[in-house]
Amino acid sequence: MNVIRFSDLCANGSAQGQRVFIRADLNVPQGVDGHITEDTRIRASVPCIQMALDAGAAVMVTSHLGRPTEGDFQAADSLAPVAKRLGELLGRDVPLIANWVDGVSVAPGQLVMLENCRVNKGEKKNAPELAHKLAALCDIFVHDAFGTAHRAEGTTYGIAQFAPIACAGPLLAAEIDAISKALANPKRPLAAIVAGSKVSTKLTILKSLANNVDQLIVGGGIANTFMLAAGLNIGKSLAEPDLLDQARAVIEIMKARGAEVPIPTDVVTAKTFAADAVATVKKATEVADDDLILDIGPETAAKLAAQLKVAGTIVWNGPVGVFEFAAFENGTKVIAQAIAESSAFSIAGGGDTLAAIAKYGIEKQMGYISTGGGAFLEVLEGKTLPAFEILMKRAAG
Ligand code: 3PG
Repeated sequence: MNVIRFSDLCANGSAQGQRVFIRADLNVPQGVDGHITEDTRIRASVPCIQMALDAGAAVMVTSHLGRPTEGDFQAADSLAPVAKRLGELLGRDVPLIANWVDGVSVAPGQLVMLENCRVNKGEKKNAPELAHKLAALCDIFVHDAFGTAHRAEGTTYGIAQFAPIACAGPLLAAEIDAISKALANPKRPLAAIVAGSKVSTKLTILKSLANNVDQLIVGGGIANTFMLAAGLNIGKSLAEPDLLDQARAVIEIMKARGAEVPIPTDVVTAKTFAADAVATVKKATEVADDDLILDIGPETAAKLAAQLKVAGTIVWNGPVGVFEFAAFENGTKVIAQAIAESSAFSIAGGGDTLAAIAKYGIEKQMGYISTGGGAFLEVLEGKTLPAFEILMKRAAG
């Protein structure tokens, strides 16, 4: 992907003394009292900020936090806890500036955080007047917010249209590189795990991957719909019978390419959806009318694990069972361990998947963990995200 990289501008001295505006994604989860419960995105944003400071730039960083009402700033919308955490990570004070659209005073070697950018009027709809004002604040705009790369807003798109230079920060660049390695130029076999409760929310992803991957491993409610499409009884399990034709179409696309959607041969069932429900392992052909399928069975998990161990590339989005309940976590655990032991380049994204990776402690064995939720899913759908589209356009001159 041809974009200008901020690392190149820093390396050749072009950022020195320049006003650098970094759009990061610091949209982190917070507890009721406002404390940050998970700071991955803040830690992932540090290298870009540090790179700008080391290059001698005057540095501004902003992000959205939540989905506030434009023009109606509330205390809960404030990036103050984020500025504090960033300050701890950088070992320096990070002043937070409010009402910054009409001008920011920052000198080379200084860093300021600009308050929640989604409170500015015109941000969501990328109003041209706001975009011009944002662009006037900087000499170099750095997009480093992969988690928000699927949004065409003022600070993710408009500023990139009009800033003198618009480039990709190291996090955005790393995400592009990892995703291209996994999907555009993969070492084969390429296996994708797409799991979740509904086929409907991931149908475009399934169709897009069906044209590319060698194994399309489905899990959760999605697998139930595929089992139904394969003529199996799934009892009372979560599924979408109106999408059977779509599921069959995915299976056919894969078959025509000599690839496959492995249908579970055994499952773990319960009579109720509860952590203390009795778990029963059954053959996929023996599911009763009052059964709920809550995980893949051990035979299926072992088969999939064997495939993952010899894969060249693995893309993972979604746990294959209700891994939050101990009795139904085996499938997801076996899959996670197989990915960890595989020599494949593996990339994962999405909140539940990241929770599973953390639960089984395999962070270090993953090839790349995306900071994107919705953005990661849109890339899997085969879409060119607005952030990349505008940065490529700007790089082309
Ligand atoms: C996310 O959390 O997925 C990103 O920060 C994007 O947030 P949004 O869905 O509110 O645009």
